Amino acid sequence: MKMKLSVIGTGYLGTTHAACMSSLGFEVIGVDTDAAKIAQLSRGELPFYEPGLDTLLDEEVKSGRLTFTTDFSLVADADMHFVCVGTPQSKDGLAADLTYVRSSVAAITPYLKPGSLVVGKSTVPVGTAQSLREELLQSAPHADLAWNPEFLREGFAVEDTLRPNRLVVGVTSDKAEEMLKEVYEPVLALGTPWIRADLPTAELVKVAANSFLATKISFINAMAEVCEAAGGDVTVLAKAIGYDPRIGNRFLQAGIGFGGGCLPKDIRAFMARAEELGAKQALEFLTEIDAINLRARQRVIDVVRADLSEDLTQYKIAVLGAAFKPDSDDVRDSPALDIAAQLHAAGAKVVVHDPKAIENARKRFPNLGFSESIEECVTGADLILHLTEWKQYRELDPKVITTLAKGALIIDGRNALDRELWRAAGWKFHALGRTD
Ligand code: UGA
Repeated sequence: MKMKLSVIGTGYLGTTHAACMSSLGFEVIGVDTDAAKIAQLSRGELPFYEPGLDTLLDEEVKSGRLTFTTDFSLVADADMHFVCVGTPQSKDGLAADLTYVRSSVAAITPYLKPGSLVVGKSTVPVGTAQSLREELLQSAPHADLAWNPEFLREGFAVEDTLRPNRLVVGVTSDKAEEMLKEVYEPVLALGTPWIRADLPTAELVKVAANSFLATKISFINAMAEVCEAAGGDVTVLAKAIGYDPRIGNRFLQAGIGFGGGCLPKDIRAFMARAEELGAKQALEFLTEIDAINLRARQRVIDVVRADLSEDLTQYKIAVLGAAFKPDSDDVRDSPALDIAAQLHAAGAKVVVHDPKAIENARKRFPNLGFSESIEECVTGADLILHLTEWKQYRELDPKVITTLAKGALIIDGRNALDRELWRAAGWKFHALGRTD
């Protein structure tokens, strides 16, 4: 008999995991306290944008294998419970807020059947799994807890879940590992590397990976600053160092830096946890990684002021992109939206376009101007700011934009546009880390 699964928390991670596990043939029940979201998911409608997940969700709901509920008691049938709730940054510091993880484990504990396994997927500070397991065993000694960090990227969520580049499980028994191997059998059959670790190492793998990625981005953005000071070109530099396979050319895209619901809060929570553990010094470099990242936003604003004027009140600025990255409608800690808001606060007339994120952006910054059409957004603009590298923006014809905009000035905050093409059409083109 195939195992039955529950997924606690139907946000980005939980919804993706639930739909993907259902597509592997498991009966899956998704649980969340948000009744409106559960109603929407039960109709097979995805509450956020993620390529490919909308159709998968709809298919799986229609298949009858995937159901959603707000009633925690309905997980009683399941053999394995994936905890996928959020761990946002605390309101009063850098640490992660574990309220949702703790309350969801507590909510399912009374319903755990003998031999069932609770599997944490949320990103948590090291030591959380151990303490949750101890608590769990006190009230449900017939169950167990493992940790299985998630490495999915927004925009590639389905692909990263069904074809991940590794599976990491933190377990304390062979039985727990065997159950996880059984669930992931079709993924393992693809040759996916399987790493068994203890609980703290499994938790650390996740934050170490995100810290490394953040470091890579801030490294290239630091090089961009040096290139600007020295008259160099960071895009050429990145290409040249990237040919060394030890460095690699991915995640070396200089620009306005990283945002989203993961990298920024994960490096901060990691620092806070290291300090608690007495290992503060080991992660002090992450303070600098964070500072370089936030400085990139300020550097764009400096370029805007240098190009237009210190006083921005007379200018219309068209901002292309609000999402923290392309192929996502997520605006959490989005560098693009942060810059747009700062320019608005400085008195500029800012109009933001994004193919998918306008609704979320408007909720966060209702006073900003928004436009559903690129043409309308750029019409009459003194300056265009390219801040999220959607494919649509790379496909723009600068000659057409010339006929709409007031000025012929563009700043590429993502180093993704064809500079020569824009210059050939008569545009003054600036980019971060390129002096020419
Ligand atoms: C990130 C990790 O890449 C995933 O492996 C991880 O599972 C996930 O966090 C998570 O912890 O859940 P994600 O937040 O979807 O995934 O976004 P990334 O693709 O990592 O991009 C993060 C930010 O870095 C974006 O704002 C992007 O624009 C920026 N970035 C990325 C750069 O500025 N330069 C680059 O070269 C690459």
